[in-house]
Amino acid sequence: MTTDAQPATALTPVLSRNWDRPDSFTLQSYRETGGYEALRTALNTDPDSLVNMVKSSGLRGRGGAGFPTGMKWSFLPADNPKPRYLVVNADESEPGTCKDIPLMLANPHVLLEGIVISAYAIRSSQAFIYVRGEVLHVIRRLKHAVAEAYDAGLLGRDILGSGFDLDVVVHAGAGAYICGEETALLDSLEGYRGQPRLKPPFPAVSGLYASPTVVNNVESIASVPSIVANGVEWFTAMGTEKSAGFGFFSLSGHVARPGQYEAPLGVTLRELLDMAGGVRAGHELKFWTPGGSSTPILTDEHLDTPLDFESVGSAGSMLGTRALQIFDDTTCVVRAVGRWIAFYAHESCGKCTPCREGNFWMVQVLDRLEKGEGTEDELDKLLDICDNLLGRAFCALGDGAASPVMSSIQHFRQEYIDHVEQGGCPFDHRKSTVWG
Ligand code: NAI
Repeated sequence: MTTDAQPATALTPVLSRNWDRPDSFTLQSYRETGGYEALRTALNTDPDSLVNMVKSSGLRGRGGAGFPTGMKWSFLPADNPKPRYLVVNADESEPGTCKDIPLMLANPHVLLEGIVISAYAIRSSQAFIYVRGEVLHVIRRLKHAVAEAYDAGLLGRDILGSGFDLDVVVHAGAGAYICGEETALLDSLEGYRGQPRLKPPFPAVSGLYASPTVVNNVESIASVPSIVANGVEWFTAMGTEKSAGFGFFSLSGHVARPGQYEAPLGVTLRELLDMAGGVRAGHELKFWTPGGSSTPILTDEHLDTPLDFESVGSAGSMLGTRALQIFDDTTCVVRAVGRWIAFYAHESCGKCTPCREGNFWMVQVLDRLEKGEGTEDELDKLLDICDNLLGRAFCALGDGAASPVMSSIQHFRQEYIDHVEQGGCPFDHRKSTVWG
C-alpha cells in the first residue's frame, strides 16, 4: 500500500542509496553507510524466524517471475540430510534488463550481506554467485568484495563469532542467455552444457548436485538486509498489497534521462517518465516493454497502469524485470520485434523443437515482412508459430519469444500490413537511433 508519507511517485533509494559515493563498492564505504548491521541482527535471530520475516514481507522474486521469496525458502524439505545450497542468479541477460549488473558494480557488499543472511536463514553453508561471463569488470569486483568479506570475518568460519560458517564462490558463465534459466544454470554450474531441466522437481527439492537448492535473483537477495534492518511493516508500507516493497525500474531507449529509478512497486510509467525527463524531445511514446523483451509490449494507453505484478498482468503483459524500454514514434515495430526474435533464435539452446524451429522460422518471416517482401497471410503464419510455442517449449524462453510477436500484431497489425502494401519499411531507421 502506498501511504501519504511514501507516495508511489517518490524515488526510494534503498539499494542505490550510496551510489553517489565514489568508493561505494568498498567494504569500508558500505560499513560507513550502515552496511552489515542487519547481518549482526540476523545472526542473533532464529533462522526460521528470518524465513517467516521474508515470507511476511511479501518480497517477490525480482528476477522476473515474481515468485514469493520466503515461500520458496520454506519449500526446502526439512527431512533431506543432503547439504543445502544458495545460488544467486546473476546471469542477467534479458534484452533491456540492466539492473543487477550496475547493482553489483556499485554495491557488491549489499549482495554479499544478503547472501550471508539468506544462507543462514535456510541453513546453507555454501553459496554460489553465477555471474554472466561477459561482464569481466563485475566478476572482478565481486571477487574483490568476497576477498574483503573473508578478511573481515564476514565470510568463512564462525562469521562475526556466531558459529555460522559460509563459503561463497563467484562462478562465471560462458555467455549463454539460457544459463539464466535456473535449471540450465545449475547444469552449467555442475560443469555440463547449460540446458533446462524438467520442473518439477523444482530446485528447492532437487537442485545443485540433486540437493535442495534455493536459486534467487541478485536484487531479491540484496533486498533482504533492508527488510531485516527496517522490519516487515516498513517494507509492506511500500508497493501494493500483493506486490510489496520497492524495486529498480530501468528506463532505456527514447527517454531523456535513461537510468535506474528505484521506486515502490505500483509506480506508473507516466510517473517514471516525469522523473526521467519524458520521452526524448519532439517525439511521442509509441510502445514500451514493462519488463524486458519477453514481456508483451504495451502502448501509450497503459501510461497509468500501476507497475505491480497484478496490474501489469491485467493490462495483458507481465511486470518481469521492470526493464522499461521506451520506443517513440520513429520506431518500426516490425524491425524492433525482428531484432528481439533474432536474439531468441540465436540463444535458443535447441533442446526442444518448438523453440529451436519456431524462433528460426519467425526470424525468416519477420525479416521478409520488414523488407516488404512478405504477404498478409504471413501474419497468421506468425501467430500460428506463436501458438505452437506458447506453453509448449521446455522453458520460459519459448513463451518469452512469442510475447513480443503476438502483442505487436495485436497493437500494430496495420503497421505490418503497411510493410506489405508499400513493399518496404515506411520508417527511416536513422531517425530512431537514440543518438539521432
Ligand atoms: P517460474 O515461474 O517457473 O519460476 C519462478 C521461480 O519460482 C523459480 O525459482 C522456481 O523454481 C520457483 N517455483 C515456482 N513454482 C514452484 C513450486 N511449486 N515449488 C518450488 N519452487 C517453485 O519462472 P522462471 O522460468 O524461473 O522465470 C521466468 C521469468 O524469468 C520470466 O517471467 C522473465 O521475466 C524472467 N527472465 C529474466 C531474465 C533476466 O535476465 N533477469 C532473462 C529471461 C527471463
